[in-house]
Amino acid sequence: MTGGTFYLTTPIYYVNATPHLGHAYTTIVGDAMVRWRRLVGDRVWFLTGTDEHGDKIAQAAAAAGIAPDAYADRISAAFRETWARLGITHDDFIRTTEPRHAAVVQKILQALWDAGDIYLGKYGGQYCYGCERFYTEKEIVDGKCPDHQTPLTYIEEENYFFKMSRYQSWLLETIEQQPGLIRPERYRNEILGFLREPLQDLSISRPRTRLEWGIPLPFDDKYVTYVWFDALINYVSALGGPGEVQFDTFWPHVQHLIGKDILKPHAVYWPCMLKAAGLPIFTRLNVHGYWRIGGGKMSKSVGNVVEALALTEKYGNDAFRYFVMREMVFGLDADFSEEAFVGRLNADLANDLGNLAARASTLLVSFAGGVVPAAPASAELAGDLAAAFGTMLQDVHAAMDEFAFQRALAAIWEFVGAVNRYVDASQPWALAKRPAERARLEAVLYNLAQALHGLGIVLAPFVPDAAGKIRSALGETGEPRLTGTPWGELLGGARVEKIAALFPRVEDRKPSAAAALPAATGGARITIDEFARIDLRVAQVLAVEAVPKSKKLLKLRVSLGTEERTVLAGIAEHYAPADLVGKKVVVVANLQPARLMGIESQGMVLAGSTEAGLGVLTLDRDLPPGAKVK
Ligand code: MSP
Repeated sequence: MTGGTFYLTTPIYYVNATPHLGHAYTTIVGDAMVRWRRLVGDRVWFLTGTDEHGDKIAQAAAAAGIAPDAYADRISAAFRETWARLGITHDDFIRTTEPRHAAVVQKILQALWDAGDIYLGKYGGQYCYGCERFYTEKEIVDGKCPDHQTPLTYIEEENYFFKMSRYQSWLLETIEQQPGLIRPERYRNEILGFLREPLQDLSISRPRTRLEWGIPLPFDDKYVTYVWFDALINYVSALGGPGEVQFDTFWPHVQHLIGKDILKPHAVYWPCMLKAAGLPIFTRLNVHGYWRIGGGKMSKSVGNVVEALALTEKYGNDAFRYFVMREMVFGLDADFSEEAFVGRLNADLANDLGNLAARASTLLVSFAGGVVPAAPASAELAGDLAAAFGTMLQDVHAAMDEFAFQRALAAIWEFVGAVNRYVDASQPWALAKRPAERARLEAVLYNLAQALHGLGIVLAPFVPDAAGKIRSALGETGEPRLTGTPWGELLGGARVEKIAALFPRVEDRKPSAAAALPAATGGARITIDEFARIDLRVAQVLAVEAVPKSKKLLKLRVSLGTEERTVLAGIAEHYAPADLVGKKVVVVANLQPARLMGIESQGMVLAGSTEAGLGVLTLDRDLPPGAKVK
């Protein structure tokens, strides 16, 4: 896989509406994919851009009261700005109104005309302006466009046609012989089904009397090119076209990334066009599903648009990237909701990853002076984290080969969970108290440092900002690289800094359950002796983690000086685990132990709460753990 060449394209987006969640999803997963391929050492080219010709754009410009070119400039710029804000690392951004594009479109049209693949014919049919296409009787639903549910218009006109029917059996055979050409499988099957019916020739022109806004046909300037015939060629024109070095380098490795809405033009028209032009077809077409909102279809033509911008600004680019990649199974539809987003942000990012980074780096700073210990001498001390890391890496490679972003992230989070469990099981804070266990402690800390180093690399394609923070806490600057396994790359002696709050928790503003309790001031009075029966102690928080399946509970490991306890606290909706590590709090030390969610709690953390929030009691000056509170 390393040292390969990879050319990835997104659809070029129509400029009749500003960027939204759907466009952002495709572009983000494309970005994660190319970051991954750069990470493993491939030579990469990533293309995106805007589709600016056709009825749809001309109509939108007219509605906005400006010329189509000025309109296209404005919206195309909005796409570029959005991608810059989202940290998208495309290598080129093509606009179909650029001369470099028009030149290649005209060249290909001329070649097809010369080869007899284009003819002038008459066509009459039901046309949808929204879709920019004619509909066959079979496709029409209740006399309306099946996509827009708007009435169709009967249009009859003389047009140029591409002899697509000529390529039907070739295309069918090609797709049958290459099982991986269109993926996931369901979309391949859809196209194979479609190709079992006779394939019609494709109308590839529009008379200028009806539409001016397009690229003129080189052999008849009374016509402009049909927008799909124009648009698809962007993937070739952006590389300069056949004969250019860029084209020769990247075209043999091209993979397209699209949503399921534009499967047919990509899986049928496009390979036929390429074949007719004598060019190799794409190596793979990767098709993803649609985001729905509240169970309904989400698209700019139907309304109900989510501004990608607003969501990323509210929660940060990394959280947005993580959510959309983790939530959608590539190829299937998924539901978007802010609630699910915040749920994942708090659970996976703030708790699991953020907590791990904070506790591992804090342990390295507290018990190894912020210096990575030397590699453990014995395999027994090395533990099995290295193996878990290796498995994760293999899984991520396999998942990314299939554009299965959700599986790649699940594998990484499996490892994050394993490291969190490793910290709990190895208890470095306890080892630190026993000089005889120094070698074991150093082995644990070494492993934690390797885990952080590995995560800083493998997370880079998915959550680049957070991954960068992890790497910079380890003193790693420059571009991350994944060659072989990173495990063991971080050498003993390297410096480590604390990583605080990688992902701040998003607080739930609902009133806490505690607020429903009666105010303490109204209760019966107690004597000083009764109060003295409560053994309150200062406790230092050593480690904190979420309790699986509980929204409220955090599990704290605390030191009371002479002993350590596990204490459960119902504060998960108010604190991220990382916020508490290292803090000195007050616990009720002589409380009857209680089991909650299968965990024994050996005490209680004191906290004050009102409707507005909750605050854990801490000290305003330093006292040793175990100090009595009276
Ligand atoms: N201009 C054509 C594509 C030409 S490519 C040669 C076009 N543009 S579009 O602006 O409508 O973008 C469609 C693409 O945006 C989809 O294929 C998909 O990548 C993305 N999405 C738009 N809405 C979407 C969802 N609701 N969900 C997921 N992605 C969707 O079609």
